[in-house]
Amino acid sequence: MAFADLNLMKPLSKIILFLCLVLIFTSSLGFCKPTLDKDPTPTPWPLQFHSILVMNYSGILQVIDLWYDWPNGRNFNIIQHQLGNVLYDLEWNNGTSFFYTLDSSKTCSSAHVEVGILRPNWLEGATYLGQQHVDGFLCNVWEKVEFIWYFEDVVTKRPVHWVFYTGREAHVMTFEVGAVLEDSKWQAPVYCFHNTTASTDSTNHGLLDGVLKGSTVL
Ligand SMILES: *[C@@H]1O[C@H](CO)[C@@H](O)[C@H](O)[C@H]1NC(C)=O
Ligand SMILES: *[C@@H]1O[C@H](CO)[C@@H](O)[C@H](O)[C@H]1NC(C)=O
Ligand SMILES: *[C@@H]1O[C@H](CO)[C@@H](O)[C@H](O)[C@H]1NC(C)=O
Repeated sequence: MAFADLNLMKPLSKIILFLCLVLIFTSSLGFCKPTLDKDPTPTPWPLQFHSILVMNYSGILQVIDLWYDWPNGRNFNIIQHQLGNVLYDLEWNNGTSFFYTLDSSKTCSSAHVEVGILRPNWLEGATYLGQQHVDGFLCNVWEKVEFIWYFEDVVTKRPVHWVFYTGREAHVMTFEVGAVLEDSKWQAPVYCFHNTTASTDSTNHGLLDGVLKGSTVL
């Protein structure tokens, strides 16, 4: 239809054409809107991974070997204090956690927490805060229940950094998806099962403040 023909159209036809155009315009807006409004969501954790974390708590530094193993219901934080001891924080999904050293001090304590280890989707429902550069990576940032601020690489979707409400920071140095620690390494030492040295309270938790725990996040 030629442009001039519009003038020849009956008024009713013009109105119908106008309404059609309005309809097309608004529906295309409606189509675009949800994608514009949709915030990115955190990538769920892989079912199994190994990560080396550099922790900084007001200048106190630690290196943590994190072995996350959801299918086997276990999570391990091996915490190297700078020029200090190594603390083993072994968590089972039945709620039992062991905290021990493997040096001559042979200390061990255990605790029972109601909630087991973190679920792979534990970040679900976090509040999106936008993008920020951290540790040299452009990251999407989320906050979860004012407990943790979580930074994920925009491109690779890997975690880069997180900060606990205490100010304790984790810098993710390696992230090996699918890596699994051999079974024998998950065995708490025998003195964890002797009542002479073991305690069943959670007095050791102060030391572990800020280590990721299912009980404190969910
Ligand atoms: C650790 O964090 C403190 C701030 O709490 C900062 O001043 C210091 O530079 C950090 N150290 C390292 C090695 O990142
Ligand atoms: C949970 O599992 C671990 C490892 O199998 C075991 O040592 C611990 O006793 C269990 N705890 C409970 C409460 O069943
Ligand atoms: C440790 O003490 C608890 C009760 O406090 C008892 O049930 C358990 O059998 C004791 N275990 C060992 C290895 O003595």
